[in-house]
Amino acid sequence: MSETVKIIFITKGEKKEFNVPVGTTVLEAAHNNDIDLEGACEGSLACSTCHVILDKGFYEMLKEPSEDEEDMLDLAFGLTPTSRLGCQIIMTKELDGLTLTVPEETRNISINQ
Ligand code: FES
Repeated sequence: MSETVKIIFITKGEKKEFNVPVGTTVLEAAHNNDIDLEGACEGSLACSTCHVILDKGFYEMLKEPSEDEEDMLDLAFGLTPTSRLGCQIIMTKELDGLTLTVPEETRNISINQ
């Protein structure tokens, strides 16, 4: 039986909660639940469009980002001290309740008509 954990996305000021199987990445969790997180390179660390901002407590529970992730994060717009790349975060039981914000600024979409 596959276990699920809770993940909470904050997007456009709205809080959305989902249960996702342990072992899915944050990027997959977003895509499977219609969350607007781009992830242009599908998790191969070649973009920074899967940038998410974590709650501090959870940020500290994660392993340090790899050098490649750091390099890509440096390119992310609106970088914060608790920024990570969503495709590099794998949901574990410990991360149950993971809360993260999808930054609006990374998106390249104009809101003007
Ligand atoms: S999807 Fe491109 S770095 Fe995460």
